Amino acid sequence: MWMAEKPSNIALIKYMGKSDVQANRPSNSSLSWTLDHLTTRVVLEKHSGPTDVWEPLTTDFPFPMSEKGKLKYLNHLDRLKKVFGVIQNFKVSSGNNFPADCGIASSASSFAALTEVAVNAFTEITGKSMALEEKAKLSALGSGSSCRSFFSGWVLWDGDGVESIDLPLQQLLHMVVIVGGGTKKVSSSEAHQRVPTSLLNRGRNERAEQRLQEFMALAKKGDWTALSQVAWQEFWDMHSLFETCTPPFGYFLPGTQQILNELRACWDASGDGPLVTMDAGPNVHLLWRPEQLNKAQTFFKESIQGQWTCLSNIEGIGFAQV
Ligand code: PMV
Repeated sequence: MWMAEKPSNIALIKYMGKSDVQANRPSNSSLSWTLDHLTTRVVLEKHSGPTDVWEPLTTDFPFPMSEKGKLKYLNHLDRLKKVFGVIQNFKVSSGNNFPADCGIASSASSFAALTEVAVNAFTEITGKSMALEEKAKLSALGSGSSCRSFFSGWVLWDGDGVESIDLPLQQLLHMVVIVGGGTKKVSSSEAHQRVPTSLLNRGRNERAEQRLQEFMALAKKGDWTALSQVAWQEFWDMHSLFETCTPPFGYFLPGTQQILNELRACWDASGDGPLVTMDAGPNVHLLWRPEQLNKAQTFFKESIQGQWTCLSNIEGIGFAQV
């Protein structure tokens, strides 16, 4: 039996659109922050049945994946088996410590964890080892964003390679406000396919690359306010692509807009606040510097507590199990 656990990550500069669908090659570079407290655990066991099978892990990782996700997952296991020339069948048990399919990037942690556990198992079975970079690239074939989950802190994926980036701000407080937890009607795979039909997609790659450069320069300078503006512009850019492609779609719920309005009010009132971003889902991610702890707690008490579920790495605020 083999077991692995990998964290999720949230992109500040988004991977949206593919330049090569087969190879899962991104149209533009992306930059993420690794969410160490939101993880997927995968257990792999030899199975004597005629096919690989999947089961939910229950205990500390109670959130399973959707039926559609399950198929993609078993296909990825099959891809990994072929790479190593393994013919044995397996039972895969997996679970998240956070809800899946609602914009907390569960595909990132689940595909990273599956790749990790399978590579460990197949290395033991076949004696063939695999370098970290190669493992991350293989994981990207299952879910592009999962390659960033093999690294901690700030992670840059430019299509050719993926690596940790040495930016300042290496300790961040994270909160995700869950305003809706239902399964997504449009998966991120579908979103990647549809965005090229948006007229706003013209120039998207250049915008993303330019924002990436700006974001890294501002992080180095420590200009938090300007950094928050770039993060805000970037997630609106991605969600605008969704609403302007054919057929249009969107993830916003009433609670999404309510939280965004309150975050804007927070910034306007005090000239300070968190970095705000959203994945392909209705939920809102906040990143705070450690010295903003009081502000984060106040925002939680005034705008979230009692209304919305919140997962975070802050004690007392929906602290996620690790
Ligand atoms: O990894 P995928 O194929 O599920 O794509 C995810 C893309 C976004 O989560 C929407 C953005 C990102 O960069 O993580």
